[in-house]
Amino acid sequence: MDRRSFLGLAAAAVATSALGACASMVTTPVAPVGGIVYLPIRNYPSLASAGGSLKILPSGAATPLYILELEGGGYAVLSPICTHLGCTVNIEGVNLVCPCHGSTYDRAGEVLQGPAERSLVRIPSRLTEDGVLEIDLRGAD
Ligand code: FES
Repeated sequence: MDRRSFLGLAAAAVATSALGACASMVTTPVAPVGGIVYLPIRNYPSLASAGGSLKILPSGAATPLYILELEGGGYAVLSPICTHLGCTVNIEGVNLVCPCHGSTYDRAGEVLQGPAERSLVRIPSRLTEDGVLEIDLRGAD
């Protein structure tokens, strides 16, 4: 492979990587019914795979929520607001990491590394037998 071909491939790889990172930040608007969001998992391929995640913004909500597929089955619906000083955490690999001071949370929202001492706020949810994730926002701010 000559230098020009190599550089072309390298540039394409970087662009693809950047596109993938941007795609993971896409926010999906959802419309709650009676304070509950109904998400048929089959309609959201990013949730159907192991380690999958989705960022949603319920209509009327000020901040989005993260939905994370949990190892062993089920989902966690988490507020992305860091419990240290309120920055927005990012999904990085299998964990969530705060860009401000480095607090790290697992996919269930539990603290793995401080300075945060409290887990992320977890929104009640359940997966129905027919594969619909019901997210109960009635207790959320
Ligand atoms: S605000 Fe997240 S670690 Fe400080």
